Amino acid sequence: MKIAVVLGTRPEIIKMAPIIDEIIQRGIDLTLIHTGQHYDKEMSDNFFRDLEIPAPNYNIRVGSGSHGKQTGLMMKGIEEVLMDEKPDIVLVQGDTNAVLAGALVASKLHIAVGHVEAGLRSFDMTMPEEINRMACDVTSTMYFIPTEESAINLLAEGYSRKNLFITGNTVVDACFRHLEIAKKRGFEEESLASLNIDNMDNILTLTMHRAENVDDKNRVSNIIGALKELKEMNIIFPIHPRTKKTLQDFGLFDELNDLSHVHIIKPVGYLDFLQLTSKSTLILTDSGGLQEEAITLNVPALTLRYNTERPETVTAGGNILVGSDKDAILENAEKILNDKEFADKMRNAPNPYGQGNSAKLTVDAIKDYYEKGLLNITAPEDIMTSFKRKMALIKEDMTVGDFEKKNNALIHMVFDGDKMRFPADDLNIKEMCVTYDEYE
Ligand code: UD1
Ligand code: UDP
Repeated sequence: MKIAVVLGTRPEIIKMAPIIDEIIQRGIDLTLIHTGQHYDKEMSDNFFRDLEIPAPNYNIRVGSGSHGKQTGLMMKGIEEVLMDEKPDIVLVQGDTNAVLAGALVASKLHIAVGHVEAGLRSFDMTMPEEINRMACDVTSTMYFIPTEESAINLLAEGYSRKNLFITGNTVVDACFRHLEIAKKRGFEEESLASLNIDNMDNILTLTMHRAENVDDKNRVSNIIGALKELKEMNIIFPIHPRTKKTLQDFGLFDELNDLSHVHIIKPVGYLDFLQLTSKSTLILTDSGGLQEEAITLNVPALTLRYNTERPETVTAGGNILVGSDKDAILENAEKILNDKEFADKMRNAPNPYGQGNSAKLTVDAIKDYYEKGLLNITAPEDIMTSFKRKMALIKEDMTVGDFEKKNNALIHMVFDGDKMRFPADDLNIKEMCVTYDEYE
């Protein structure tokens, strides 16, 4: 079996690292393709170093540019590699342009696509990420999904439950594996050593890079307005290159940099960043990955967005959406700082993203599909049988698997009272309502 992994940005490197490790440890052939979307040492090479992943076999070096140009160049480059390498499956992760490019190219070459971190939805089509993740899901063969809630998003869009695997999120694997290594190593990076980081009281770790925040002068000014007033916090801001550029263009960089309680530093390597976040009193962010890491590391998060494709973190109680609303940022930050009960409740929110075995579950599922021949994408030769779409209330004790066998059916949705459930094979559906396709 040969697996190709396409990645191109900082979060993809971090979240694919545990899967890459798992592939290598099992002796499976790996082709690693870097799109080159992130190219600064601090956004790419340092993560290969910290996470100990091999250098990519190919780097397409697309660099920065408009969405069309970047995605188009990626498609051309990835297609050439896949035609040579002929992998059994191409794995893409998350919602960047690499996901869109990799999935479109592979599926048209009739190569199976595995979408890691599938099923997330912000329901906001103005986000390039929402377009990327939805377009990728249309072309994928296997879906590796962090939570039941995200799996239900895919069921609601009509995807067959058979190809959906709830694996947790590999970010938990990455956090758990590297935090211990990081603690032993201590803060060595120049960027952090220069900060008098020994005083870890009231650390607020800030990251922001979302286009809808940092490309909007009004929103970014509101956020800076709040930061100015949070004088009792020690604000550490590893700045994303996009954000540095736009703050400079808006003439806001110096104003922020001059504040004595705000430390703007270069993006930090993963080991240092994990230590920084795990010792923080509060995380203020618009990052997707950081919302997940905050709840994994038991640190309260305030998210600088009006929606999130990680709603589990909010319902679990570890994350609050504050948008770019200055008052909401200040009010919640003050509460986390001064109201111990409130802060403890956020810290103790249960982690919805699994136990840290997501990479293992993902590679297990791929191996199983490979062995059953389910990664072979060929034109159908069976005459399509007709089926009826039906609904039933189940009276007797039976599992999803039993029902499907008995009725030659495929269950789509399960309603347990007013709660939707994922139809896992072994779910007992007595007293539940199901919708299903019945085949002749
Ligand atoms: C991309 C992803 C976003 C993800 C983020 C992770 C898309 C559509 N966006 O956003 O989903 O959350 O990565 O960080 O795929 N730049 C540099 N050096 C670099 C990379 C970028 O200076 O190594 C600057 C360039 O000015 C560039 C800007 O950052 O124009 C934006 O980079 P780009 O890769 O287009 O998008 P991100 O904002 O990084
Ligand atoms: N991160 C890091 N150093 C930094 C900032 C972030 O290692 O200086 C890590 C962080 O731990 C998380 C990932 O980068 O795992 C998030 O990446 P980013 O915010 O760029 O992208 P997103 O998750 O929003 O797509």
